Amino acid sequence: MKAIVVYESHWGNTAAIARAVAEGIGPDAAVLATDEATPAAIADVDLIVAGSPLLGFNLPTEAMLHGLANNAAKDPTPPDLSHPSMRAWLEATPQGDGRGAAAFETRIWWSPGSAAKAILKRLEALGYRPVDKAERFIVEGKYGPLREGELERARAWGAELVQQMAGAGR
Ligand SMILES: Cc1cc2nc3c(=O)[nH]c(=O)nc-3n(C[C@H](O)[C@H](O)[C@H](O)COP(=O)(O)O)c2cc1C
Repeated sequence: MKAIVVYESHWGNTAAIARAVAEGIGPDAAVLATDEATPAAIADVDLIVAGSPLLGFNLPTEAMLHGLANNAAKDPTPPDLSHPSMRAWLEATPQGDGRGAAAFETRIWWSPGSAAKAILKRLEALGYRPVDKAERFIVEGKYGPLREGELERARAWGAELVQQMAGAGR
């Protein structure tokens, strides 16, 4: 089974989870930033896993990212804004034709809103088949770090996705 894990990440938490999920899936999983996950790069994958942070109770909007750019000097670590947003990536993503999809977010535990649900909804609308419910991984503070145990949980979730795909006969 060929898989990609594509992510939006500004402070590295979502990127770290993406790498752990890919480890859990196995050696055939590639971890790609949004501008690396081109239509050609995902043409022959069986499973797409997509992740982003929850920012402003939402899948990050262009307005939110614009705000981050304007406020970057005040952040303890400047955000990485060098890749397109998950929203923009989803806009440009080709039809799924029944291929598998899963989505996750990194977030503070108590917050309302879900980026992962928005991602999964959009992938489903494109014809991808959700293989699991939207997953969430928790950070301790506004910029991280990830809560202890979340990387291990992400690896386990990646392995679980493989099982879901196998169960569906793909
Ligand atoms: C400006 C800003 C807004 C945020 N808004 C939310 C939010 O609404 N809900 C939430 O759970 N976490 C929120 N967070 C926490 C981020 O979701 C969390 O740090 C995430 O892991 C960042 O991912 P990244 O390191 O991959 O960019 C916010 C963080 C920042 C800096």
